[in-house]
Amino acid sequence: MATTYITTPIYYVNDRPHIGHCYTTLVADVLARFHRLAGDDVLMLTGTDEHAEKVIDRAREAGVGVREWADRNAQAFRDAFTLMGFSNDDFVRTSEDRHKTRASRYIQQLVDSGDIYLGDYVGWYDPGQEEYVTESVAKAHDYKSPVSGKPLEKRTEKNYFFRLSAYEQRLAEHIEKHPTFIRPEARRNEVLGRLRQGLQDVPVSRAVRDGDDADWGIRMPNDPGHRVYVWIEALCNYLSVVDTPERGHYWPASIHLLAKDILWFHAVVWPAMLLGMGRPLPRCVYAHAYFVAEGRKMSKSLGNFIEIDQLRAYGSRFSIDAVRWYLATRGPLGATDADFSYANFVDIYNAELANGLGNCASRVVNMVQKYFEGVTPNARDATVHGGVDWPSLTESHTRAAREAINAVDLFSAGHNAMAIVTAVDGYINTTEPFRLAKRVTGPDDPAHADLALILYNCAEALRIAALLFLPFMPAKSAAVLDMIGAIIPEPGGLDDHTSWRGKFGLKPGTPMQKGQGLFMRVEADEPAPKA
Ligand code: MSP
Repeated sequence: MATTYITTPIYYVNDRPHIGHCYTTLVADVLARFHRLAGDDVLMLTGTDEHAEKVIDRAREAGVGVREWADRNAQAFRDAFTLMGFSNDDFVRTSEDRHKTRASRYIQQLVDSGDIYLGDYVGWYDPGQEEYVTESVAKAHDYKSPVSGKPLEKRTEKNYFFRLSAYEQRLAEHIEKHPTFIRPEARRNEVLGRLRQGLQDVPVSRAVRDGDDADWGIRMPNDPGHRVYVWIEALCNYLSVVDTPERGHYWPASIHLLAKDILWFHAVVWPAMLLGMGRPLPRCVYAHAYFVAEGRKMSKSLGNFIEIDQLRAYGSRFSIDAVRWYLATRGPLGATDADFSYANFVDIYNAELANGLGNCASRVVNMVQKYFEGVTPNARDATVHGGVDWPSLTESHTRAAREAINAVDLFSAGHNAMAIVTAVDGYINTTEPFRLAKRVTGPDDPAHADLALILYNCAEALRIAALLFLPFMPAKSAAVLDMIGAIIPEPGGLDDHTSWRGKFGLKPGTPMQKGQGLFMRVEADEPAPKA
Protein backbone atom coordinates (compact mmCIF):
# COMPACT_ATOMS: atom_id res chain seq x y z
CA MET A 1 0.00 0.00 0.00
CA ALA A 2 1.41 3.36 -0.94
CA THR A 3 1.92 5.80 1.89
CA THR A 4 0.87 9.39 1.30
CA TYR A 5 1.63 12.12 3.79
CA ILE A 6 0.19 15.51 2.86
CA THR A 7 0.78 18.68 4.86
CA THR A 8 -0.45 22.28 4.78
CA PRO A 9 1.24 25.24 6.44
CA ILE A 10 0.29 25.63 10.05
CA TYR A 11 -1.54 28.94 10.28
CA TYR A 12 -0.86 31.83 12.61
CA VAL A 13 -3.46 32.18 15.29
CA ASN A 14 -3.41 35.95 15.21
CA ASP A 15 -5.74 36.00 12.22
CA ARG A 16 -9.20 34.76 11.47
CA PRO A 17 -9.32 31.99 8.87
CA HIS A 18 -9.75 33.30 5.34
CA ILE A 19 -9.95 32.03 1.78
CA GLY A 20 -6.17 31.60 1.54
CA HIS A 21 -5.96 29.22 4.50
CA CYS A 22 -9.02 27.38 3.25
CA TYR A 23 -7.63 27.10 -0.25
CA THR A 24 -4.35 25.39 0.62
CA THR A 25 -6.13 23.09 3.03
CA LEU A 26 -8.76 22.30 0.38
CA VAL A 27 -6.06 21.29 -2.11
CA ALA A 28 -4.65 18.98 0.56
CA ASP A 29 -8.12 17.62 1.28
CA VAL A 30 -8.95 16.82 -2.36
CA LEU A 31 -5.60 15.07 -2.77
CA ALA A 32 -6.06 13.18 0.51
CA ARG A 33 -9.59 12.05 -0.36
CA PHE A 34 -8.52 10.88 -3.79
CA HIS A 35 -5.53 8.97 -2.45
CA ARG A 36 -7.68 7.32 0.23
CA LEU A 37 -10.11 6.24 -2.47
CA ALA A 38 -7.19 4.84 -4.44
CA GLY A 39 -6.22 2.75 -1.41
CA ASP A 40 -3.23 4.70 -0.09
CA ASP A 41 -2.39 4.86 3.59
CA VAL A 42 -2.97 8.61 3.93
CA LEU A 43 -2.10 11.10 6.62
CA MET A 44 -3.32 14.63 6.05
CA LEU A 45 -2.03 17.18 8.51
CA THR A 46 -2.95 20.79 9.13
CA GLY A 47 -2.84 22.96 12.24
CA THR A 48 -1.82 26.21 13.86
CA ASP A 49 1.43 28.06 14.47
CA GLU A 50 1.14 29.71 17.87
CA HIS A 51 4.42 31.02 19.22
CA ALA A 52 4.94 34.02 16.94
CA GLU A 53 5.62 37.41 18.53
CA LYS A 54 2.67 38.84 16.70
CA VAL A 55 0.38 36.30 18.35
CA ILE A 56 1.62 37.42 21.76
CA ASP A 57 1.21 41.07 20.78
CA ARG A 58 -2.30 40.55 19.48
CA ALA A 59 -3.38 38.74 22.63
CA ARG A 60 -2.03 41.62 24.68
CA GLU A 61 -3.93 44.16 22.58
CA ALA A 62 -7.08 42.13 23.05
CA GLY A 63 -6.45 42.01 26.80
CA VAL A 64 -6.46 38.24 27.07
CA GLY A 65 -3.79 35.71 27.99
CA VAL A 66 -1.88 34.33 25.07
CA ARG A 67 -3.04 30.78 25.72
CA GLU A 68 -6.67 31.80 25.78
CA TRP A 69 -6.17 33.81 22.63
CA ALA A 70 -4.51 30.87 20.89
CA ASP A 71 -7.20 28.45 22.07
CA ARG A 72 -9.91 30.68 20.74
CA ASN A 73 -8.30 31.15 17.35
CA ALA A 74 -7.15 27.57 16.94
CA GLN A 75 -10.79 26.65 17.49
CA ALA A 76 -11.82 29.14 14.81
CA PHE A 77 -9.53 27.31 12.37
CA ARG A 78 -10.92 23.95 13.39
CA ASP A 79 -14.47 25.24 12.91
CA ALA A 80 -13.63 26.74 9.54
CA PHE A 81 -12.12 23.47 8.38
CA THR A 82 -15.14 21.51 9.60
CA LEU A 83 -17.39 23.88 7.72
CA MET A 84 -15.33 23.32 4.57
CA GLY A 85 -15.67 19.56 5.01
CA PHE A 86 -11.96 18.89 5.38
CA SER A 87 -10.89 15.38 6.26
CA ASN A 88 -7.55 16.10 7.94
CA ASP A 89 -6.40 13.15 10.02
CA ASP A 90 -4.73 15.36 12.56
CA PHE A 91 -4.61 19.00 13.61
CA VAL A 92 -1.41 20.05 15.28
CA ARG A 93 -0.96 23.06 17.52
CA THR A 94 2.64 24.05 18.13
CA SER A 95 1.75 24.76 21.77
CA GLU A 96 1.15 21.04 22.30
CA ASP A 97 3.73 19.05 24.21
CA ARG A 98 4.05 16.42 21.50
CA HIS A 99 5.39 19.13 19.21
CA LYS A 100 7.42 21.08 21.75
CA THR A 101 9.33 18.12 23.13
CA ARG A 102 10.33 16.76 19.76
CA ALA A 103 11.11 20.15 18.26
CA SER A 104 13.49 20.85 21.19
CA ARG A 105 15.10 17.52 20.58
CA TYR A 106 15.73 18.38 16.91
CA ILE A 107 17.28 21.71 17.87
CA GLN A 108 19.45 19.97 20.46
CA GLN A 109 20.61 17.53 17.82
CA LEU A 110 21.63 20.40 15.54
CA VAL A 111 23.45 22.10 18.43
CA ASP A 112 25.30 18.86 19.16
CA SER A 113 26.34 18.42 15.55
CA GLY A 114 27.63 22.00 15.39
CA ASP A 115 25.01 23.00 12.82
CA ILE A 116 23.65 25.52 15.32
CA TYR A 117 26.15 27.88 17.00
CA LEU A 118 26.11 31.14 19.00
CA GLY A 119 27.02 34.37 17.18
CA ASP A 120 26.18 38.06 16.64
CA TYR A 121 23.53 39.18 14.30
CA VAL A 122 22.99 42.59 12.77
CA GLY A 123 20.29 42.81 10.20
CA TRP A 124 17.13 44.22 8.72
CA TYR A 125 14.07 42.88 10.49
CA ASP A 126 10.54 42.89 9.12
CA PRO A 127 8.32 42.92 12.24
CA GLY A 128 5.14 42.10 10.29
CA GLN A 129 6.66 38.96 8.81
CA GLU A 130 8.83 38.15 11.81
CA GLU A 131 11.79 37.61 9.60
CA TYR A 132 15.05 39.19 8.68
CA VAL A 133 15.54 40.11 5.07
CA THR A 134 18.94 40.10 3.43
CA GLU A 135 20.83 43.33 2.78
CA SER A 136 20.17 43.04 -0.94
CA VAL A 137 16.43 42.52 -0.50
CA ALA A 138 16.28 45.37 2.03
CA LYS A 139 18.10 47.69 -0.35
CA ALA A 140 16.00 46.71 -3.34
CA HIS A 141 12.88 47.67 -1.38
CA ASP A 142 14.29 50.91 -0.07
CA TYR A 143 14.60 49.41 3.43
CA LYS A 144 10.88 48.78 3.57
CA SER A 145 9.10 45.46 3.98
CA PRO A 146 8.70 43.73 0.61
CA VAL A 147 5.37 42.45 1.92
CA SER A 148 3.74 45.28 3.88
CA GLY A 149 5.78 48.27 2.70
CA LYS A 150 6.38 49.33 6.32
CA PRO A 151 9.91 50.39 7.34
CA LEU A 152 12.36 47.61 8.21
CA GLU A 153 14.09 47.80 11.60
CA LYS A 154 17.86 47.52 12.02
CA ARG A 155 18.44 45.06 14.85
CA THR A 156 21.51 43.61 16.55
CA GLU A 157 21.15 40.47 18.59
CA LYS A 158 23.18 37.75 20.22
CA ASN A 159 21.80 34.83 18.38
CA TYR A 160 22.10 31.24 17.62
CA PHE A 161 22.68 30.57 13.95
CA PHE A 162 22.00 27.64 11.72
CA ARG A 163 24.85 26.79 9.37
CA LEU A 164 22.72 27.06 6.24
CA SER A 165 25.77 28.01 4.17
CA ALA A 166 27.17 24.52 4.68
CA TYR A 167 24.28 23.00 2.74
CA GLU A 168 24.33 25.18 -0.35
CA GLN A 169 25.98 22.57 -2.53
CA ARG A 170 23.96 19.60 -1.36
CA LEU A 171 20.69 21.49 -1.70
CA ALA A 172 21.48 22.68 -5.19
CA GLU A 173 22.39 19.13 -6.18
CA HIS A 174 19.21 17.74 -4.69
CA ILE A 175 17.05 20.28 -6.50
CA GLU A 176 18.87 19.71 -9.80
CA LYS A 177 18.57 15.97 -9.47
CA HIS A 178 14.88 15.93 -8.50
CA PRO A 179 12.93 18.01 -11.00
CA THR A 180 9.68 17.68 -9.03
CA PHE A 181 11.13 18.45 -5.61
CA ILE A 182 10.08 22.10 -5.93
CA ARG A 183 6.94 22.77 -7.89
CA PRO A 184 5.65 24.42 -9.98
CA GLU A 185 8.59 24.78 -12.35
CA ALA A 186 8.69 28.58 -12.17
CA ARG A 187 9.17 28.42 -8.40
CA ARG A 188 11.92 25.84 -8.75
CA ASN A 189 13.81 28.15 -11.07
CA GLU A 190 13.45 31.02 -8.63
CA VAL A 191 14.85 28.97 -5.78
CA LEU A 192 17.74 27.69 -7.88
CA GLY A 193 18.52 31.24 -8.97
CA ARG A 194 18.61 32.47 -5.39
CA LEU A 195 20.66 29.49 -4.26
CA ARG A 196 23.30 30.30 -6.86
CA GLN A 197 23.77 33.72 -5.25
CA GLY A 198 25.02 31.91 -2.16
CA LEU A 199 23.55 31.08 1.23
CA GLN A 200 24.20 32.82 4.52
CA ASP A 201 23.75 31.29 7.92
CA VAL A 202 20.39 32.14 9.43
CA PRO A 203 19.51 33.18 12.96
CA VAL A 204 17.39 30.62 14.74
CA SER A 205 16.80 32.24 18.10
CA ARG A 206 15.42 35.43 19.60
CA ALA A 207 16.27 36.99 22.93
CA VAL A 208 13.47 36.45 25.43
CA ARG A 209 11.55 39.72 25.78
CA ASP A 210 10.43 41.33 29.03
CA GLY A 211 7.08 39.99 30.06
CA ASP A 212 7.24 36.95 27.78
CA ASP A 213 5.16 34.11 29.13
CA ALA A 214 7.65 31.61 30.53
CA ASP A 215 6.24 28.65 28.77
CA TRP A 216 5.00 30.20 25.59
CA GLY A 217 7.33 29.10 22.83
CA ILE A 218 10.34 26.85 22.95
CA ARG A 219 13.56 27.83 24.72
CA MET A 220 17.00 27.10 23.31
CA PRO A 221 18.24 23.93 24.94
CA ASN A 222 20.59 24.88 27.82
CA ASP A 223 20.09 28.61 27.18
CA PRO A 224 16.68 29.74 28.42
CA GLY A 225 17.53 33.39 27.67
CA HIS A 226 16.80 32.60 24.03
CA ARG A 227 13.63 31.37 22.43
CA VAL A 228 13.78 29.25 19.32
CA TYR A 229 12.77 31.47 16.43
CA VAL A 230 9.18 30.65 15.59
CA TRP A 231 9.82 29.70 11.97
CA ILE A 232 12.45 27.17 12.90
CA GLU A 233 10.28 25.31 15.37
CA ALA A 234 7.14 25.66 13.24
CA LEU A 235 8.78 23.84 10.34
CA CYS A 236 9.52 20.98 12.72
CA ASN A 237 5.78 20.27 13.03
CA TYR A 238 5.82 18.24 9.85
CA LEU A 239 8.22 15.79 11.42
CA SER A 240 7.27 16.03 15.10
CA VAL A 241 3.74 14.82 14.41
CA VAL A 242 4.88 11.62 12.71
CA ASP A 243 8.02 10.97 14.73
CA THR A 244 6.39 8.17 16.73
CA PRO A 245 6.54 4.40 16.46
CA GLU A 246 3.02 4.27 14.99
CA ARG A 247 3.51 7.01 12.45
CA GLY A 248 7.20 6.87 11.63
CA HIS A 249 6.51 5.29 8.24
CA TYR A 250 4.88 8.49 6.99
CA TRP A 251 8.20 10.30 6.83
CA PRO A 252 9.41 11.62 4.39
CA ALA A 253 6.29 13.65 3.57
CA SER A 254 4.90 13.13 0.08
CA ILE A 255 4.05 16.78 -0.34
CA HIS A 256 4.27 20.00 1.63
CA LEU A 257 1.60 22.34 0.25
CA LEU A 258 1.96 26.10 0.77
CA ALA A 259 1.92 29.39 -1.11
CA LYS A 260 4.77 31.30 -2.67
CA ASP A 261 5.15 33.60 0.37
CA ILE A 262 6.78 30.90 2.44
CA LEU A 263 8.58 28.87 -0.19
CA TRP A 264 12.14 29.75 0.87
CA PHE A 265 11.62 28.35 4.35
CA HIS A 266 10.18 25.14 2.96
CA ALA A 267 12.44 24.61 -0.04
CA VAL A 268 15.75 25.68 1.51
CA VAL A 269 15.79 26.18 5.28
CA TRP A 270 13.74 23.13 6.23
CA PRO A 271 15.49 20.70 3.85
CA ALA A 272 18.87 21.93 5.13
CA MET A 273 17.74 21.30 8.71
CA LEU A 274 16.68 17.81 7.71
CA LEU A 275 20.03 17.18 6.04
CA GLY A 276 21.67 18.32 9.26
CA MET A 277 19.56 15.84 11.21
CA GLY A 278 20.27 13.05 8.76
CA ARG A 279 16.61 12.72 7.80
CA PRO A 280 15.25 12.13 4.32
CA LEU A 281 13.84 15.17 2.49
CA PRO A 282 10.16 15.61 1.61
CA ARG A 283 9.39 14.38 -1.88
CA CYS A 284 7.78 17.58 -3.03
CA VAL A 285 7.44 21.17 -1.87
CA TYR A 286 4.54 22.66 -3.77
CA ALA A 287 4.09 26.44 -3.68
CA HIS A 288 0.96 27.73 -5.33
CA ALA A 289 0.18 31.37 -6.14
CA TYR A 290 -2.40 33.65 -4.47
CA PHE A 291 -6.10 34.15 -4.58
CA VAL A 292 -6.96 37.79 -5.14
CA ALA A 293 -10.45 39.19 -4.51
CA GLU A 294 -12.44 40.77 -7.35
CA GLY A 295 -9.22 41.57 -9.16
CA ARG A 296 -7.40 43.13 -6.20
CA LYS A 297 -4.76 41.81 -3.87
CA MET A 298 -6.30 41.07 -0.49
CA SER A 299 -4.88 43.17 2.29
CA LYS A 300 -5.62 44.38 5.77
CA SER A 301 -5.55 47.99 4.64
CA LEU A 302 -8.05 47.43 1.83
CA GLY A 303 -10.12 45.31 4.20
CA ASN A 304 -11.04 43.03 1.32
CA PHE A 305 -10.07 39.64 2.70
CA ILE A 306 -12.56 36.94 1.81
CA GLU A 307 -13.08 35.66 5.30
CA ILE A 308 -14.55 32.39 6.40
CA ASP A 309 -17.88 34.13 7.10
CA GLN A 310 -18.19 35.06 3.47
CA LEU A 311 -17.41 31.51 2.38
CA ARG A 312 -20.04 30.33 4.84
CA ALA A 313 -22.57 32.68 3.24
CA TYR A 314 -21.71 31.30 -0.20
CA GLY A 315 -22.03 27.83 1.29
CA SER A 316 -25.54 28.52 2.61
CA ARG A 317 -26.70 29.88 -0.68
CA PHE A 318 -24.92 27.53 -3.13
CA SER A 319 -23.70 24.65 -0.92
CA ILE A 320 -20.22 24.20 0.50
CA ASP A 321 -19.52 21.67 -2.21
CA ALA A 322 -20.07 24.32 -4.86
CA VAL A 323 -17.57 26.54 -3.03
CA ARG A 324 -15.13 23.62 -2.87
CA TRP A 325 -15.56 22.95 -6.58
CA TYR A 326 -14.97 26.56 -7.55
CA LEU A 327 -11.94 27.05 -5.30
CA ALA A 328 -10.38 23.71 -6.16
CA THR A 329 -10.76 23.98 -9.92
CA ARG A 330 -10.25 27.74 -10.35
CA GLY A 331 -7.67 28.30 -7.65
CA PRO A 332 -4.10 29.59 -8.04
CA LEU A 333 -2.48 26.18 -8.13
CA GLY A 334 0.04 27.17 -10.76
CA ALA A 335 2.45 30.08 -10.78
CA THR A 336 -0.13 32.79 -11.51
CA ASP A 337 -2.63 34.34 -9.14
CA ALA A 338 -6.34 33.54 -9.49
CA ASP A 339 -9.26 35.85 -8.97
CA PHE A 340 -12.16 35.02 -6.70
CA SER A 341 -14.98 36.92 -8.32
CA TYR A 342 -18.68 36.52 -7.70
CA ALA A 343 -19.56 36.88 -11.40
CA ASN A 344 -17.10 34.15 -12.30
CA PHE A 345 -18.37 31.96 -9.47
CA VAL A 346 -21.93 32.27 -10.78
CA ASP A 347 -20.83 31.44 -14.34
CA ILE A 348 -19.02 28.31 -13.26
CA TYR A 349 -21.76 27.32 -10.85
CA ASN A 350 -24.48 27.61 -13.47
CA ALA A 351 -22.55 26.04 -16.32
CA GLU A 352 -20.90 23.14 -14.54
CA LEU A 353 -23.00 22.39 -11.48
CA ALA A 354 -26.58 23.57 -12.10
CA ASN A 355 -26.77 22.97 -15.86
CA GLY A 356 -24.02 20.36 -15.85
CA LEU A 357 -23.90 17.73 -13.14
CA GLY A 358 -27.17 18.64 -11.39
CA ASN A 359 -29.28 18.84 -14.51
CA CYS A 360 -27.81 15.68 -16.00
CA ALA A 361 -28.52 13.67 -12.84
CA SER A 362 -32.09 14.87 -12.57
CA ARG A 363 -32.73 14.30 -16.28
CA VAL A 364 -31.57 10.70 -16.05
CA VAL A 365 -33.42 9.92 -12.83
CA ASN A 366 -36.60 11.59 -14.11
CA MET A 367 -36.60 9.48 -17.25
CA VAL A 368 -36.06 6.32 -15.22
CA GLN A 369 -39.02 7.38 -13.05
CA LYS A 370 -41.16 8.03 -16.06
CA TYR A 371 -40.31 5.08 -18.27
CA PHE A 372 -39.17 2.37 -15.81
CA GLU A 373 -41.15 3.10 -12.67
CA GLY A 374 -38.09 4.47 -10.93
CA VAL A 375 -36.16 1.23 -11.10
CA THR A 376 -32.77 0.72 -12.79
CA PRO A 377 -33.63 -0.84 -16.14
CA ASN A 378 -32.40 -4.22 -17.18
CA ALA A 379 -30.16 -3.45 -20.13
CA ARG A 380 -28.29 -5.65 -22.53
CA ASP A 381 -24.54 -5.35 -22.29
CA ALA A 382 -23.76 -3.31 -25.38
CA THR A 383 -20.48 -1.57 -24.75
CA VAL A 384 -20.61 0.66 -27.81
CA HIS A 385 -23.86 2.47 -28.33
CA GLY A 386 -24.93 5.76 -29.85
CA GLY A 387 -21.38 6.26 -31.06
CA VAL A 388 -19.93 6.05 -27.54
CA ASP A 389 -17.67 3.31 -26.25
CA TRP A 390 -18.67 3.70 -22.59
CA PRO A 391 -16.20 1.39 -20.88
CA SER A 392 -13.26 2.90 -22.65
CA LEU A 393 -14.51 6.47 -22.28
CA THR A 394 -15.01 6.13 -18.53
CA GLU A 395 -11.81 4.18 -18.13
CA SER A 396 -9.73 6.78 -19.91
CA HIS A 397 -11.19 9.66 -17.89
CA THR A 398 -10.61 7.73 -14.69
CA ARG A 399 -7.00 7.14 -15.64
CA ALA A 400 -6.52 10.76 -16.66
CA ALA A 401 -8.07 11.98 -13.39
CA ARG A 402 -5.69 9.77 -11.43
CA GLU A 403 -2.71 11.03 -13.36
CA ALA A 404 -3.87 14.59 -12.84
CA ILE A 405 -4.08 14.02 -9.08
CA ASN A 406 -0.56 12.65 -9.08
CA ALA A 407 0.52 15.74 -10.98
CA VAL A 408 -1.39 18.00 -8.51
CA ASP A 409 -3.58 19.30 -11.32
CA LEU A 410 -7.00 19.70 -9.74
CA PHE A 411 -8.53 21.44 -12.73
CA SER A 412 -7.74 18.51 -14.96
CA ALA A 413 -8.77 15.90 -12.39
CA GLY A 414 -12.13 17.60 -11.88
CA HIS A 415 -12.70 18.16 -15.56
CA ASN A 416 -12.11 14.56 -16.42
CA ALA A 417 -15.07 13.79 -14.18
CA MET A 418 -17.00 16.65 -15.80
CA ALA A 419 -16.17 15.28 -19.27
CA ILE A 420 -18.15 12.13 -18.44
CA VAL A 421 -21.18 14.26 -17.57
CA THR A 422 -20.78 16.15 -20.84
CA ALA A 423 -20.60 12.82 -22.68
CA VAL A 424 -23.86 11.70 -21.03
CA ASP A 425 -25.56 14.94 -22.09
CA GLY A 426 -24.29 14.47 -25.64
CA TYR A 427 -25.43 10.86 -25.70
CA ILE A 428 -28.93 11.86 -24.57
CA ASN A 429 -29.02 14.49 -27.29
CA THR A 430 -28.03 12.03 -30.02
CA THR A 431 -30.07 9.04 -28.89
CA GLU A 432 -33.14 11.09 -27.82
CA PRO A 433 -34.61 8.64 -25.29
CA PHE A 434 -37.61 10.96 -24.70
CA ARG A 435 -38.52 10.62 -28.40
CA LEU A 436 -37.83 6.90 -28.42
CA ALA A 437 -40.15 6.44 -25.42
CA LYS A 438 -43.07 7.75 -27.45
CA ARG A 439 -42.56 4.97 -29.99
CA VAL A 440 -42.36 2.10 -27.52
CA THR A 441 -45.39 -0.16 -27.97
CA GLY A 442 -44.71 -2.58 -25.14
CA PRO A 443 -42.06 -4.45 -23.17
CA ASP A 444 -41.24 -6.72 -26.11
CA ASP A 445 -40.68 -3.87 -28.52
CA PRO A 446 -36.93 -3.63 -29.40
CA ALA A 447 -37.32 0.12 -28.87
CA HIS A 448 -38.06 -0.67 -25.23
CA ALA A 449 -34.76 -2.55 -24.94
CA ASP A 450 -32.93 0.38 -26.56
CA LEU A 451 -34.52 2.79 -24.13
CA ALA A 452 -33.43 0.57 -21.23
CA LEU A 453 -29.91 0.46 -22.60
CA ILE A 454 -29.66 4.23 -23.04
CA LEU A 455 -30.88 5.02 -19.55
CA TYR A 456 -28.76 2.33 -17.97
CA ASN A 457 -25.67 3.63 -19.75
CA CYS A 458 -26.44 7.20 -18.68
CA ALA A 459 -26.84 6.21 -15.03
CA GLU A 460 -23.78 3.95 -15.03
CA ALA A 461 -21.65 6.71 -16.55
CA LEU A 462 -23.03 9.18 -14.04
CA ARG A 463 -22.11 6.76 -11.26
CA ILE A 464 -18.48 6.73 -12.36
CA ALA A 465 -18.44 10.51 -12.76
CA ALA A 466 -19.86 10.90 -9.23
CA LEU A 467 -17.07 8.69 -7.87
CA LEU A 468 -14.46 10.92 -9.43
CA PHE A 469 -16.25 13.99 -8.06
CA LEU A 470 -16.23 12.61 -4.51
CA PRO A 471 -12.91 14.16 -3.45
CA PHE A 472 -14.10 17.56 -4.67
CA MET A 473 -17.74 17.49 -3.59
CA PRO A 474 -18.15 14.74 -1.02
CA ALA A 475 -21.74 15.52 -0.05
CA LYS A 476 -23.18 16.25 -3.49
CA SER A 477 -21.43 13.28 -5.08
CA ALA A 478 -22.79 11.00 -2.37
CA ALA A 479 -26.23 12.49 -3.09
CA VAL A 480 -25.89 11.60 -6.78
CA LEU A 481 -24.81 8.06 -5.91
CA ASP A 482 -27.80 7.81 -3.60
CA MET A 483 -30.19 9.09 -6.23
CA ILE A 484 -29.16 6.42 -8.71
CA GLY A 485 -29.03 3.66 -6.12
CA ALA A 486 -25.26 3.18 -6.23
CA ILE A 487 -23.05 2.16 -3.34
CA ILE A 488 -20.78 4.75 -1.72
CA PRO A 489 -17.23 3.40 -1.86
CA GLU A 490 -15.04 2.48 1.07
CA PRO A 491 -11.40 3.65 1.08
CA GLY A 492 -9.51 1.73 -1.58
CA GLY A 493 -12.62 1.35 -3.71
CA LEU A 494 -11.51 3.43 -6.67
CA ASP A 495 -10.60 0.60 -9.05
CA ASP A 496 -13.57 -1.61 -8.31
CA HIS A 497 -16.04 1.23 -8.27
CA THR A 498 -14.92 2.84 -11.51
CA SER A 499 -15.10 -0.33 -13.54
CA TRP A 500 -17.94 -0.22 -16.06
CA ARG A 501 -20.69 -2.64 -15.05
CA GLY A 502 -18.15 -4.17 -12.69
CA LYS A 503 -18.61 -5.43 -9.15
CA PHE A 504 -20.23 -2.16 -8.08
CA GLY A 505 -22.00 -1.42 -11.36
CA LEU A 506 -25.68 -0.45 -11.16
CA LYS A 507 -27.90 -3.45 -10.55
CA PRO A 508 -31.09 -3.72 -12.61
CA GLY A 509 -34.09 -3.57 -10.35
CA THR A 510 -32.49 -1.18 -7.84
CA PRO A 511 -34.75 1.78 -7.08
CA MET A 512 -33.64 5.29 -7.92
CA GLN A 513 -34.84 8.30 -5.94
CA LYS A 514 -35.64 11.72 -7.19
CA GLY A 515 -33.15 13.83 -5.31
CA GLN A 516 -33.74 17.32 -4.05
CA GLY A 517 -32.52 19.67 -6.73
CA LEU A 518 -28.77 19.26 -6.43
CA PHE A 519 -27.76 22.74 -7.52
CA MET A 520 -30.41 25.39 -8.11
CA ARG A 521 -29.69 27.73 -10.99
CA VAL A 522 -28.78 31.28 -10.07
CA GLU A 523 -30.09 34.28 -11.98
CA ALA A 524 -27.38 36.51 -13.31
CA ASP A 525 -28.69 39.54 -11.39
CA GLU A 526 -28.87 37.87 -7.99
CA PRO A 527 -26.62 39.83 -5.62
CA ALA A 528 -23.64 38.16 -3.96
CA PRO A 529 -24.46 36.50 -0.63
CA LYS A 530 -23.56 38.68 2.33
CA ALA A 531 -21.67 37.41 5.34
N1 MSP B 1 2.68 30.21 10.19
C1 MSP B 1 3.26 30.35 8.91
C2 MSP B 1 3.47 29.01 8.24
C3 MSP B 1 4.34 28.05 9.00
S1 MSP B 1 4.45 26.51 8.19
C4 MSP B 1 5.63 25.72 9.03
C5 MSP B 1 2.34 31.19 8.03
N2 MSP B 1 1.06 31.25 8.40
S2 MSP B 1 -0.08 32.07 7.63
O1 MSP B 1 -1.23 32.02 8.50
O2 MSP B 1 0.37 33.37 7.26
O3 MSP B 1 -0.46 31.24 6.35
C6 MSP B 1 0.24 31.42 5.13
C7 MSP B 1 -0.36 30.46 4.14
O4 MSP B 1 -1.77 30.69 3.98
C8 MSP B 1 0.18 30.58 2.70
O5 MSP B 1 1.41 29.92 2.52
C9 MSP B 1 -0.95 29.90 1.96
O6 MSP B 1 -0.91 28.52 2.16
C10 MSP B 1 -2.16 30.48 2.65
N3 MSP B 1 -2.54 31.76 2.05
C11 MSP B 1 -2.55 32.98 2.70
N4 MSP B 1 -3.00 33.92 1.83
C12 MSP B 1 -3.28 33.35 0.63
C13 MSP B 1 -3.89 33.81 -0.55
N5 MSP B 1 -4.23 35.07 -0.74
N6 MSP B 1 -4.14 32.89 -1.51
C14 MSP B 1 -3.87 31.56 -1.35
N7 MSP B 1 -3.30 31.10 -0.24
C15 MSP B 1 -2.84 31.99 0.71
O7 MSP B 1 2.81 31.72 7.04
